[in-house]
Amino acid sequence: MDIFIPKNLSIGAVVENIAIPSLSDTDFARIYALFLDRSVVIFKHANIDQEEHIRFSRRFGRLERTLSKRTSRPEISLLSNVNKDGDVAKTDDTLGLFLKGNRAWHSDSSFKVVGAKASMLRALEVPSEGGDTEWADMKAAWLALDEKTQESLEDLVAVHSYGYSQGLIGGIALLKASELEDLPPVQHPIVRVHPETGEKSLYIGRHISHILGMSEEKSQELISELTEAACQSPRIFRHQWNEGDIALWDNRCVLHRGHPWPFEERRVMRRTTIAGEGENPWAMEDSEEAASIS
Ligand code: OGA
Ligand code: MN
Repeated sequence: MDIFIPKNLSIGAVVENIAIPSLSDTDFARIYALFLDRSVVIFKHANIDQEEHIRFSRRFGRLERTLSKRTSRPEISLLSNVNKDGDVAKTDDTLGLFLKGNRAWHSDSSFKVVGAKASMLRALEVPSEGGDTEWADMKAAWLALDEKTQESLEDLVAVHSYGYSQGLIGGIALLKASELEDLPPVQHPIVRVHPETGEKSLYIGRHISHILGMSEEKSQELISELTEAACQSPRIFRHQWNEGDIALWDNRCVLHRGHPWPFEERRVMRRTTIAGEGENPWAMEDSEEAASIS
């Protein structure tokens, strides 16, 4: 196993020559420490299949049940511009609009009562150009703010709403009304403390509709300003995908976004989501897992 840490960046690590399916507990502990330390880990040419992807993800914690029932396994979210019939989506059809949402900075499942702990994204088919993914370090972003700004943010609570964020881009139609009912707006503090490292970070992103006690307009102004200031070099780590690569990131302290690509080209990715800790209605129970395998 070879580990590369990019210079002058507070997040990101690249791991090569790792045999994920047979990873020993000792090597897994190294990877877990790397995940906590660097927040984003790329496993280049990991070349694992779906079952191995799920099994590896499971070592990081309970998995989140995906939003939609369109996938054969509840552990897997599809991020693909290829529809059920094998045709590539158009930028303005339901699937195209749905995917467009990922281009804005966000933290996965921030619209759920408990935001995601981590996400693990696997590249199955990549376009000839574009389609990179980028992450931004929200711990460093918090530290970069002056004391007065930090104080003004400390007690703010944001409302995150999937109906709001997907509605904005017109990508809501992919979900049934009943699925949306399971996703009422939720509240999270703007400044959060990492449950494992104890470090503070900014908890923002595209799913925020407003801040409690503030108008939507004022809230959006503040969130855009914060996001713009936060998501700047040297806090940005970017990955250009190869087929077989895997990216793992800590949603508790980074934001991420996807870049566009020539949309007539296929880009097929599959993601597992590691559930946030504590009582979490989206975390899968062992019995559900067993049922999904059989
Ligand atoms: C995700 C995501 C961006 C991308 O997988 O959660 O936002 O580049 N992906 O596909
Ligand atoms: Mn995402």
